[in-house]
This record gives sequence, structure tokens and C-alpha cells, in this order.
Amino acid sequence: AAVSDFVVVSNRLPVDRTDDPEEPWRRSPGGLVTALAPFMRRTDGAWVGWPGQAGVELDPFETDGMQLVPVTLSAEDVELYYEGFSNDTIWPLYHDVISPPRYRREWWQAYVRVNRRFAEAAAAAAADGATVWVHDYQLQLVPKLLRELRPDLVIGYFHHIPFPAYGLYSQLPWRRQVLEGLLGADVIGFQRVADASNFARSVRRQLRYDTKATGITVPQPGGGERLALAKAFPISIDVDDYVQLAHSPAVRARAAEIRESLGNPKKVLLGVDRLDYTKGIGHRLKAFGELLDDGRLDVEDVTLIQVASPSRERVDAYMQLRDEVELAVGRINGSVDTVGHTAIRYLHQSFPREEMVALYLVADVMLVTALRDGMNLVAKEYVASRIDNRGVLVLSEFAGAADELGSAIRINPHDIDALKDEIVRAIEMTPAEQGRRMRALRRRVSDHTVDDWSRDFLAALDAARQARS
Ligand code: G6P
Repeated sequence: AAVSDFVVVSNRLPVDRTDDPEEPWRRSPGGLVTALAPFMRRTDGAWVGWPGQAGVELDPFETDGMQLVPVTLSAEDVELYYEGFSNDTIWPLYHDVISPPRYRREWWQAYVRVNRRFAEAAAAAAADGATVWVHDYQLQLVPKLLRELRPDLVIGYFHHIPFPAYGLYSQLPWRRQVLEGLLGADVIGFQRVADASNFARSVRRQLRYDTKATGITVPQPGGGERLALAKAFPISIDVDDYVQLAHSPAVRARAAEIRESLGNPKKVLLGVDRLDYTKGIGHRLKAFGELLDDGRLDVEDVTLIQVASPSRERVDAYMQLRDEVELAVGRINGSVDTVGHTAIRYLHQSFPREEMVALYLVADVMLVTALRDGMNLVAKEYVASRIDNRGVLVLSEFAGAADELGSAIRINPHDIDALKDEIVRAIEMTPAEQGRRMRALRRRVSDHTVDDWSRDFLAALDAARQARS
């Protein structure tokens, strides 16, 4: 099989299945693949990942200039490695145990086994001395496993979610193995500076390695040592794409149509999340519901649109969350709606990007109330779409985006009274202040796009390559 000088490895392949036999796979709309696609084309790159369905066995194939290398996961792998260890152990633990992580030895064994399979697939796809970029918490052991198979490779790893404080991280029964797995990379990227320092602290305390800003000293199996760099590289979005959509007459017409269909409320509030317990959807609903109950807001004047896209629906905590959210929406609407007006338009669906931008254009106030979030790209998408310099972003300080988006209204979602006050403040903000804040937010978002992010990370990997030779 052909080998590549640049290989990306992530749990999911960046393609979605279609019904079209002519084109059975289409590139998914994610920002990561958009950012990497031009680079992949230039380098004849390969992408190793799971096609997203259990038991699907596929040969490598090509889609717009990328070699896609599918990794097969059996139904059991999906249950133990993906739903179990990745999404019921690591995900809740790394999001500060908002939901209790479950530590099950058979899940860990499956995680090791599947990570090895990804490492083997990457090793087979990589040319001599190639650069391999591994993504996210499902694959934390891949850097070390891959280095053992192929010491010639330059290996990067990017962690898209938070890395927890030492006190929480140490709950993990396999805490040393996971740190060692990550330290197989030459560069380990995090969203926030705080994530990188949490990681370094765990490495110091658990492994007793020396950690400096210039690198972590990792002893080598045969003696000697090497340096691994742990550093923040905040991810972003394809800003131009959102700006273009926001200018599109079809999208603008759609925005007007949505507003009309809501009965032209004075103010529209918007929440957009995967239906995940880290997003603070319950806190948001509670604050909004109380404002309506208190009479500080009137259902005739305001509507909250809540898009909650289906996610990880076979994991218990997600099923429970769905019930809780749907109960809360039903209770609030049931008690405050009038025959002609609904307080919360709840959509348990996913929408194409055009529809999302139309919603962003409709939203006078965007509510991001995450309890913990690696970055939260929705906050950046909203800002990028507001080419009119209007609208207010209410942003949780527990989202990575808060480090960059200082001109948003910052909130602590646990403080319901403060959240209520800030929602009212956002609704009442003058156009002049909206403009001042939005212009500052837009400047930051346009200055640091997903292209800048991938360029910075790859430059760090290049530096690691230079240092080695
Ligand atoms: C987060 C993670 C990604 C993941 C995505 C969707 O953004 O950082 O790695 O792909 O959620 O979750 P899913 O489990 O459907 O892949």
C-alpha cells in the first residue's frame, strides 16, 4: 500500500456516509478537516480513523486528495473502548467529574487493544521519517505505541478537551500508563495554558520527570532521554466560511423567515450544543425559566431556541440527561406559554451549517453556559457570523474560549442569580455597547483561525524534527 509523509489519526474519519452510490462518503463539515485538507492534498496525506459504524470493514479509499484508512471497530469495541472507556471514564473525569466516571478494567483493556490497532494502522500508513498527528482523548496511548513501532517518526498529539487538575486526574487507576502514552509524542498540544500545566503537574507528581517550559525530559527505554513539549495551542474555526455564509442572501432570507416564524419576538436567545452534561443546558434552562416565572421576562417578548444535537445516545449518562432536559423544557413551556407563544423551542436535531448561521443571525443573545469545555467552538462561530457587529455573547468562564474572548459577558453558570442578571443585561444591552464588544470579539476570532492553529502546531512539530537531527 502507498505510504504518506503526513498522517492524521483520530477516532472518527472526517467523512459521513451518504445514500448516493456514486459518492458513498462525503467530507464531514468539521473545522479540523477543513483546516487540514489543503495540507493533506499537498503532502498526499493519509487519515486513519473509524468510519463511525460498528463492524464496517472497508479498504482504504480516496476522497478529495486524502487517503482514508478505515480502522474497523466491532460492536464490542464500540461498547467498551468508545462508549465505555472514552466516553464513560475519560470524558467525565477530564470534565471535572460533572458526571461520575466509571472505572472498569475490561473497558481499559479494550482501550489498550484498540489504541494498539490505531497505532499499527498509522505505522503502516507512514513513510520513513513521516509526521504523524494524533487527535484527542480516545487515542492517548497511540503516541507511545506508535513510537515503539516506528522510532523514525515525528509524532504530535492534540488534546481537544480539558486536562483535569492533579487531584482529579489521580483517580484514574491507569494514570501512569496514560501519561506515558501521551509522552510518546514530540509535541503535546492543549487548548488552554491551564490544561498544559495540569498535565505537567501530573507528570511531575506521578512519573517524577523533570518538566520545564522548554520541554519534559522523558527517559528512553534503552537509556538516554528525549524532550517532549507540552504547550497550549487554542483551536479555532474556519472564519471565512462563516463570514461568507453570513453574507449569503439565502442565509439572510432564512434568518428573516425564522424570526417571522417565531412571531417576531423582541428578543431571541440561542443555545447550541451537543446534548452533553458538560454544556450546562440545565443551568441555562433554570435561569431562563426563573426569569419568566419572576416576571422579569415575558413569554410574549422573548424566545429561547435550544438546539441540542443527539450525541452518544447509548451511554447512560446521556440518556438520563436527555430525560432531564426534556422534562425541564416541558415544565417551563407548560407553565409559562400562551396559546400563541412558546418560551423554549427545543430541537433535538443536527442542522447543516447554513441553518446554523441563519440561527446565529437571528440570535440577539447567544448563551454558552458550559460547566467545563475544552474550547467551545460555537462561541467562535457566533462571533464570526455577526458581520453586523450586533448580538451579545454570554460565555462561561469554564469554557476554553473564555481565555480569548474577554469582551463577552462572562458568567459562572453555577451562580443562577448572577446568570439571570447577566441574561437580562445582555437582553437590554444598547446597540453601541453590543457593537463595541462584538468588534473586539471579531478582531480576536479573525486574527486566529483554524489555519493559524494548525500552522502553529505543525511549526512546533517541525522544530521538534530540527532539534532531533
Ligand atoms: C468532542 C470531542 C471529539 C468528538 C466530538 C463528537 O468535540 O473532542 O473528539 O469527536 O466531541 O463526539 P463523538 O463521540 O460523536 O465523536
